[in-house]
Amino acid sequence: MTQDELKAQVGQAALHYVPAGEVVGVGTGSTVNHFITALGAMKDRIAGAVSSSVASTVRLQALGIRVFDANEVGEISVYIDGADEIDPRGFMIKGGGAALTREKIVAAQCRRFVCIADESKRVEVLGRYPVPVEVIAMATQRLVRQFAAMGGSARLRLQGVQPLVTDNGQCILDVSGLSISDPAGFETEVNQWPGVVTVGVFAHQKASVCLLGTADGVRTIVY
Ligand code: 5RP
Repeated sequence: MTQDELKAQVGQAALHYVPAGEVVGVGTGSTVNHFITALGAMKDRIAGAVSSSVASTVRLQALGIRVFDANEVGEISVYIDGADEIDPRGFMIKGGGAALTREKIVAAQCRRFVCIADESKRVEVLGRYPVPVEVIAMATQRLVRQFAAMGGSARLRLQGVQPLVTDNGQCILDVSGLSISDPAGFETEVNQWPGVVTVGVFAHQKASVCLLGTADGVRTIVY
């Protein structure tokens, strides 16, 4: 199976976690795009969605799924999203699609995080994938130095030749060279550096369940 077929498989499997009649939290990315397509088939059985990005909102609305502002709804039962890496404890790196801040906001509003990922995303220790960090532009160079002091190499993410601008009007640093054995400690520390909007380590908002797409079918891992 191709990686995209594995993503489609878990996108479909995630439908089992969507409670009828409720609002569902929806992440961002190519795996989630498969989930959104599958969700279209049950759009009349859900109240709608809270979306983590403009891109996902556009897809949801194109299928006729109502998208609520996060402030219009209370606690949500389930959040469905992908990951760039997931470790054996359900800690993740996210933000490859630059949506990490809204993803973390929606995840925090949901009781359960169902991570959908193909098996290439499973790692023993987080950090092989560069950690995305959404930052305020004027803090960029100081933050590059702070990451260097902890052994990381931070690069400003570009879109073409210009710095990428997120849905929140900020930019992204991608930090490589880290081995994150204490994801919760790392997230807590980096989050309090001035100028950091959101760090793409999801330890405090870790996965409750992972639906992992493998050549032998979908494997369900509960944390
Ligand atoms: C977007 C994300 C995505 O969930 C992550 O990048 C995985 O993407 P994909 O499903 O395309 O592999 O965090 O900000």
